[in-house]
Amino acid sequence: MIFKDFVFNYTSCLTCLLKNKYYTNFIRRLFLLPYKYILSNVRDFFFNKNIDKLDINKDYKSLDDFFKYFDSDKSSSVHGYNKFYSDELKEFKELKIRILEFGIHFGASQAAFSKYFVNSEVIGVDKNPYYKKFFSKNIRSLFCDVSDKNSLKELKNYLKYKVEIIIDDASHIPNHQLKTFVEMFDLLKDDGIYIIEELDIYKTLPEDYNKNLENNESEIRDFLYHVSDKSDLNNKKFEKNLEILEIMKKIKWVKIFRGDYIINKKNVSEIAFIKKK
Ligand SMILES: C[S@@+](CC[C@H](N)C(=O)[O-])C[C@H]1O[C@@H](n2cnc3c(N)ncnc32)[C@H](O)[C@@H]1O
Repeated sequence: MIFKDFVFNYTSCLTCLLKNKYYTNFIRRLFLLPYKYILSNVRDFFFNKNIDKLDINKDYKSLDDFFKYFDSDKSSSVHGYNKFYSDELKEFKELKIRILEFGIHFGASQAAFSKYFVNSEVIGVDKNPYYKKFFSKNIRSLFCDVSDKNSLKELKNYLKYKVEIIIDDASHIPNHQLKTFVEMFDLLKDDGIYIIEELDIYKTLPEDYNKNLENNESEIRDFLYHVSDKSDLNNKKFEKNLEILEIMKKIKWVKIFRGDYIINKKNVSEIAFIKKK
């Protein structure tokens, strides 16, 4: 992680904690974050994999090969999102692009995208950006808490540039997915693609993903179904949400697919691809 990004991560995380009045956590992080930064650099040096030195592109061809190699749950062994990603993003394969992905965990999908999209810069975003096992000169790791609109705004201001692809694979909580979408859609270039994973996992695992949802409804999912023409909801349902109505004008199409992962006998792998005009 470059020092400039650490400074952003540090100030942005502390501001977020202060604004939300998490004072104890603020004091803890004040000291813990510099330690985590140093530790992540030490881990990069001794243990983590420098993927720029990995010569695997002659043996690994498909996006699924890369997801499996780095052990991302997007692969055909878990969610089975690989086929949708490779079909819908094929136009970007050789282009010089930027991918912004919310949800780093140990950095598997950032590493896979970086190797597959050979001319890409991948920006991973997480509330804990220090846990990753891979590093590269083409991958950055930034802080953002997607539950907090201010944190999303700070990230947007810091990045300054627009990107070709945005992926939301962070908390999977519908309210967070909506906030992230409303705040970040602007950051997409024209003809860019915004992706939201696990759109309906909140129904299967309400204890983890369905806190504070009114009537068990996801506004973002209803909106996407509405735009994709898969539902007969009319605009009235969204008329109070002016931000989302504004975004609707900028959408070329929405495609919703279902992958393969089953929890409690229910499929939880619903994924949406949203193309900007
Ligand atoms: C499913 S993992 C991401 C996996 C990764 N994209 C991949 O495919 O290898 C989800 C990540 O979202 C992060 N996360 C959860 N809640 C978040 C929040 N409120 N803000 C930012 N990140 C969050 C977690 O820390 C976790 O690392």
